[in-house]
Amino acid sequence: MGALDGKTAIVTGAGSGIGRAISLGFAAEGASVAIADIDAASADAVAKEIGDGALALTCDVADSAQVEAMVAATVERFGRVDILINNAGRARGGPVSRMSEEDWDSVFATNVRGTFLCSRAVLGKMIPQRSGVIVNTASGIGIRPRPYMAAYGASKAAVIHFTESLALEVARYGIRVNAFTPGVTDTPFWRAFRTEEDVAEAFRLGEVGQPEDLVPTVVFLCSDASREISGATIPRQIFVAKGDVE
Ligand SMILES: NC(=O)c1ccc[n+]([C@@H]2O[C@H](COP(=O)([O-])OP(=O)(O)OC[C@H]3O[C@@H](n4cnc5c(N)ncnc54)[C@H](O)[C@@H]3O)[C@@H](O)[C@H]2O)c1
Repeated sequence: MGALDGKTAIVTGAGSGIGRAISLGFAAEGASVAIADIDAASADAVAKEIGDGALALTCDVADSAQVEAMVAATVERFGRVDILINNAGRARGGPVSRMSEEDWDSVFATNVRGTFLCSRAVLGKMIPQRSGVIVNTASGIGIRPRPYMAAYGASKAAVIHFTESLALEVARYGIRVNAFTPGVTDTPFWRAFRTEEDVAEAFRLGEVGQPEDLVPTVVFLCSDASREISGATIPRQIFVAKGDVE
């Protein structure tokens, strides 16, 4: 018996990295999963890996028409939606003094507008059924700022605040809203910002987790075992001090 037997989940950004791992983990726990990604080929590939019980959907989470169509297709195929994982994310690094408006807007469009649009769309199903779970992929940088990551950090701080606000708003309908911070996780997204030397150093220091490491936490947040938890942001941070290690 799986922790998510009979549930239907939508995972955004599910074609790669953390979203892919969550989708595979959910399927293993008995859920039907809509694999939503802006990249059609990667969504298809993950859906094929899962086989029965998975539906690949091409969707830009920043586009309200595509989001509405994605939720409608999920309900048409599986009959309901119980879980939304707002995981699609983007980052643009660099100094604010030289950041373009396009870069700023693209980060906020996916991370903040996308989280809002997907949440709004599933609430249209979850409120009438008086149940549901939303989990948002935040980031430690949304809590502890880093230089040259202002747009990304501000967007993830907004995701955390949105999580807390929405949790208060929808508790009366039996809907829970939580977030988690993945910590340093080995995905194409993480590698894109680092040289090979940086990657090797992070592994040497033991800072790097794998996407699969996050799955039990997300399953827990979506299962009845966490029924008392809403409005929380669950941290995952691995800090290994440079220098002496026993
Ligand atoms: N990897 C890390 O170290 C790390 C740390 C903290 C937070 N995160 C967050 O984890 C989430 C997943 O990142 P990942 O590391 O698995 O990256 P990834 O690049 O492996 O996967 C991200 C996926 O999101 C999709 N995507 C991007 N924009 C989209 C859009 N507008 N609509 C739909 N899909 C879109 C991409 O096509 C890709 O498949 C992101 O929200 C990211 O901010 C990652």
